[in-house]
Amino acid sequence: MTEGIEGAVILVTGAGGGIGRATVAALMRAGAHVIATDLAPPDTGTLSLAQDVTDPDGWAALAATIDARWGRLDGLVNNAGIAMVAAIADTSLAQWRQQMAVNVDSMLLSCQAMLPLLRTSGAHRPGGASVVNLSSVGGIGGAPLMAAYCTSKGAVRLFSKSAALEFAALKYNIRVNSVHPGGIETGMMDRIIAAYVAVGAAPDEATARAGVDAQHPLGRWGRPEEIAGGIVYLCSSASSFMTGAELVIDGGFTAH
Ligand SMILES: NC(=O)c1ccc[n+]([C@@H]2O[C@H](COP(=O)([O-])OP(=O)(O)OC[C@H]3O[C@@H](n4cnc5c(N)ncnc54)[C@H](O)[C@@H]3O)[C@@H](O)[C@H]2O)c1
Repeated sequence: MTEGIEGAVILVTGAGGGIGRATVAALMRAGAHVIATDLAPPDTGTLSLAQDVTDPDGWAALAATIDARWGRLDGLVNNAGIAMVAAIADTSLAQWRQQMAVNVDSMLLSCQAMLPLLRTSGAHRPGGASVVNLSSVGGIGGAPLMAAYCTSKGAVRLFSKSAALEFAALKYNIRVNSVHPGGIETGMMDRIIAAYVAVGAAPDEATARAGVDAQHPLGRWGRPEEIAGGIVYLCSSASSFMTGAELVIDGGFTAH
């Protein structure tokens, strides 16, 4: 599962959060050189930098930093994301645009900025360079009170497939896949649960949590490490024949 990770140069955004932090740790254990970014430099024991993924200039500066140090990028994990909970009637245009800016605009900005470095890797790396984009089960099916989030994650899913097809046609040897977690124990899910209660969708947090539990046939939420394992696999050459695919890691959520 980790073949080709030793010595690979891999960027993880949103690395201060639950899934990002677990992914950085798993990649480092497998011997990767990891660049970890978040709004504030994450404390991950690797090269950690501040980055707002909605800022094109920040992406250009980050690409220059990686180019100067390694001259290539083997893996790009677009993990940073936010999740809004609001009824459609109550969603402001500013909130909608913020949801799309962080979750969707970042996909285009990251691919554009990192493409030259990914192409350099693709020219030499067995299994090709790898882009891994965090979508969600909410990018496959909808959810009440999460129209903006589900719209953004559906866009991530089809951006990933389109990029996979485009880079394959251009013979860049860059694979692009999306990951679709179910409910995972992170700060994001804590905030979603609190928001369900705040908008009146559940009487209290225990009831809201039980409702989410019930959507997972395995009877529990996932742990960040269980998503990190899938991300490491997609970054490795063990997944060399996967591109344009959806890796669903959801305790059976979407199997119904
Ligand atoms: N936790 C879940 O249940 C779940 C389920 C499906 C998909 N996901 C997706 O997985 C990814 C990681 O989520 P998580 O659960 O670890 O959430 P998290 O809130 O723990 O971490 C997300 C990180 O993204 C960072 N971030 C937010 N806006 C940013 C910006 N503009 N620039 C840079 N960084 C920014 C945050 O600071 C945070 O550290 C997200 O894309 C999320 O949508 C999570």
